[in-house]
Amino acid sequence: MEFSIFFITLMFLFTSPATIASLVQEFSYQDALSKSLLYFEAQRSGHLPYNQRVTWRHHSGLTDGLQQGVDLVGGYYDAGDHVKFGLPMAFTITMLAWSVIEYGDETTAAGEYKHALESIKWGTDYFIKAHTKPYVLWAEVGDGDTDHYCWQRPEDMTTSRRAYKIDNENPGSDLAGETAAALAAASLVFRKSNPHYSHLLLHHAQQLFEFGDKYRGRYDSSIAAVKSYYASVSGYKDELLWAAFWLHRATGQSNYLDYAVDKAHCFGGTGWAISEFSWDVKYAGVQIMAVQNLLKKELQPNQKHILEQYKTKAEHYVCSCLGMNKGENVDRTPGGLLYIRQWNNMQYVSGAAFLLTVFSDFLKSMGTDLHCPNGTVTSNQVLSFAKSQVDYILGSNPMNMSYLVGFGTKYPKRVHHRGASIVSYKENKGFIGCTQGYDKWYGRRDENPNVLVGALVGGPDCQDNFGDERGNYMQTEACTYNTAPLVGVFAKLHALSDGSRLQEVVSSSAYAYDNY
Ligand SMILES: *[C@@H]1O[C@H](CO)[C@@H](O)[C@H](O)[C@H]1NC(C)=O
Ligand SMILES: *[C@@H]1O[C@H](CO)[C@@H](O)[C@H](O)[C@H]1NC(C)=O
Repeated sequence: MEFSIFFITLMFLFTSPATIASLVQEFSYQDALSKSLLYFEAQRSGHLPYNQRVTWRHHSGLTDGLQQGVDLVGGYYDAGDHVKFGLPMAFTITMLAWSVIEYGDETTAAGEYKHALESIKWGTDYFIKAHTKPYVLWAEVGDGDTDHYCWQRPEDMTTSRRAYKIDNENPGSDLAGETAAALAAASLVFRKSNPHYSHLLLHHAQQLFEFGDKYRGRYDSSIAAVKSYYASVSGYKDELLWAAFWLHRATGQSNYLDYAVDKAHCFGGTGWAISEFSWDVKYAGVQIMAVQNLLKKELQPNQKHILEQYKTKAEHYVCSCLGMNKGENVDRTPGGLLYIRQWNNMQYVSGAAFLLTVFSDFLKSMGTDLHCPNGTVTSNQVLSFAKSQVDYILGSNPMNMSYLVGFGTKYPKRVHHRGASIVSYKENKGFIGCTQGYDKWYGRRDENPNVLVGALVGGPDCQDNFGDERGNYMQTEACTYNTAPLVGVFAKLHALSDGSRLQEVVSSSAYAYDNY
């Protein structure tokens, strides 16, 4: 409460926008960007390369897939455990690729382009291995139940590494669709620097989309092991639309756009007005991708008509984040953070920050404002709100805590993460067994011996409170899909602060602070 009064007071005391701007804490978005990309190196599974920068990690998961006769070495651990969950991993890669597609120049300007591409390729190399036949995609390695029973470093793993797949008899259109989206988006990223690889990615993407579309079903009906961890609650229709838009963007082929237009209504693309965007519920992302197509000149009237319907829903999402709908708005904490739910709320915040940033660019390209039910918002105001969420993450919050690990001076020190919480394998190669890790490392009060730099943890509760305890996994666990959307937003904000255009954005934000 005090925090909101603080900001409202500011509004009345200092009417000059420039004054407001100068009072807002400035962060190094370049530093945040560099750190965010290090996180993906900490999450690497498989054989680590010579240029691995996160040196407390070592090779792991080197026999993944062996039991099933398939090479599934590589990819990313999902969060604080060692399961390789295909759906959130693919979503992570889609968001990293989307970040580079939108903000590649900005990422280059920040000196991080090469690292960003590496973070994508670590995922796409794995998806290529996992897609062994046109209608076979390996969906998961390890399982949550046996994995969570142990607290071990990845290098010591003794848990089951059984692999699970989808195929034509056990379909998973959501997983196939998301993986197709990730590969199509990545094919755009690598088009110039590695055309052969880009072509290969696109080939897999097209096959996977066909697989997902032809054999319809939810992957959690085919694979029981994912049910309690990453069940696809929103079903597969959002992923099929998402994949179609990505394939259209990557190929330019009108059949993919036709698919997203023809199925817009029956797949819920133009029906669902939703205020959350996540690894599961992708409608807001689909709608914002649809909107980007309106910038094209060569649309047919029917396409334009349907894309406009998508746009209405995209606007609902953006207005809802801005608190500018009548009624249906996303809640906020007293400190101003978007608040969807208790467990890992930050994933929704980082996703929203990215979508709002992209939407603000769209408004700028169109030269228009956004007309929300409660008023008109400029492109700079949308961006400024996204910035306010990023700034909250980086330390502008009642706890004065950066929720991006390793950033600033105060950040979570007891991240719920097996590898980070146990002495580095490089320092002590003595085997640490399944329950030994719980006894000796998990229950300690001490800080983690290894800093999981760049991880975005689950974050504070609805009252901005945060408990930095290893057992508080709802708040202190990080996931790869939390950080991924921030990569693009950090790059964009860094580019703006470099050219001092950030002042302009912030000074347009009077209304955004008003809403605190
Ligand atoms: C939106 O408008 C309604 C009435 O027009 C008002 O009661 C409400 O407070 C407004 N909400 C915001 C967030 O400004
Ligand atoms: C955060 O910083 C502000 C300003 O320096 C200070 O007044 C406040 O007590 C700090 N809050 C916490 C929880 O440390």
